[in-house]
Amino acid sequence: MSLGNESGGSRGGSSSDSLIGRLVVERGLAPQAEVDAAFAAMRTGTDQQRAFVDVLVEAQIITRRQLSRLRTEAEGDRTVLRIPGYQIMRKLGAGAMASVYLAKQTSLDRLVAIKILPRRYSSDTAFIERFYKEGRAAAKLSDPNIVGAFDVGQVGDQHYFVMEYVEGETVYDRITRFKKLKDRDALVITRQVASALKHAHARGFIHRDIKPKNIMITKSNVVKLADLGLARAIADKKSAEAERNKAFGTPYYISPEQIRGSVDLGPPADIYGLGATLFHMLTGRVPFEGKDPTEVMQRHLRQELTPPDQVASGISQGTAEIVEMMMMKAPRDRYQTADELLEDLDLAIAGEPLRYASRGVDLAGIATDVEGTAESEVQSGARDKHGIPPVAIAAIVGLACVCVLLALLLALK
Ligand SMILES: Nc1ncnc2c1ncn2[C@@H]1O[C@H](COP(=O)(O)OP(=O)(O)OP(=O)(O)O)[C@@H](O)[C@H]1O
Ligand SMILES: [Mg+2]
Repeated sequence: MSLGNESGGSRGGSSSDSLIGRLVVERGLAPQAEVDAAFAAMRTGTDQQRAFVDVLVEAQIITRRQLSRLRTEAEGDRTVLRIPGYQIMRKLGAGAMASVYLAKQTSLDRLVAIKILPRRYSSDTAFIERFYKEGRAAAKLSDPNIVGAFDVGQVGDQHYFVMEYVEGETVYDRITRFKKLKDRDALVITRQVASALKHAHARGFIHRDIKPKNIMITKSNVVKLADLGLARAIADKKSAEAERNKAFGTPYYISPEQIRGSVDLGPPADIYGLGATLFHMLTGRVPFEGKDPTEVMQRHLRQELTPPDQVASGISQGTAEIVEMMMMKAPRDRYQTADELLEDLDLAIAGEPLRYASRGVDLAGIATDVEGTAESEVQSGARDKHGIPPVAIAAIVGLACVCVLLALLLALK
């Protein structure tokens, strides 16, 4: 996946072109690389005089109908709402469901970030319900590594969510800037997200959408997990049931069990997403690429993970082992809690042997369509906490017995 920012409009193309280009990628209509290629085509040769959107349509990257939908969406993006008590200053960014603005909360004279839903969502009651649930879920959590939630409300037919403003950048921005991060830097970021997850999981919340764009880094390098937009109370089986098989989440970081529409998501689902994020930080590449979201998801389910240290240099074996364990296909083969993960991350940061992850023992990364199969039972059962398989234990015990026997024989002589 190219993380190049060419569609950001800096090298040609109007701001409306860059907005359409971004929406094409964000809506999963085409990979960034294809959009970048369309930009390049527009700027060179015969395409020079043609509109970017025409290049997109003629190259069959999107259809005319999709283009018209994206245009409506882009228009909506430009109309900024007035919210009593807040002075909206500028747009910070936009995602799949909303735009985020920097604002000043006039009563307290502080900067906040406000997530505003586009009007077209107002009639979708299920969606609005989910949006308010996000606000309530986030408000229950208070942790230095989680973006604080302040307020939820509605003006006219638009809904908004006020949160702590994080002055800094997302992990996605950082990867774009540096191409990839140093082993230790990536571990330190991951450690802070794991600590945020420990707090959220202990209170019954699974984030469900861990990815570089949802991890922010302040100017003083404090990492903050954002966007509990897809968070669900673990106990909230009903809403999970309602979303069964909808495969919520972003395909590049989504766990196999989310792809399968599992209603019993636990901490390992977030650990997988964080593992995919760590892989991306370390290598500058997402773990599984594909021509469309379906292909990416198929690979999460079935394709063997190429260990990160085979994709990029400068990655220690311990770090690679942690990623492999975080991204095991079967949830039961991953770290079971954020606490276990924190323990291994601390050991890796200190350069010490890991407690849970260990290469060469399990069948890490082997592509298995494992959910509910006997094979995964064997895999997870075939490893104790320290990663030593029963075969090795049996061999050691056998050898010890032989030694004792020999010693006895010698003594008897
Ligand atoms: N609390 C915040 N403080 C500062 N900037 C923020 C904050 N929350 C979000 N942003 C910025 O706004 C952008 C859009 O956020 P949003 O959560 O709507 O979408 P996303 O996470 O980027 O993508 P998606 O909707 O696909 O999950 C983010 O990428 C980030 O740059
Ligand atoms: Mg987000």
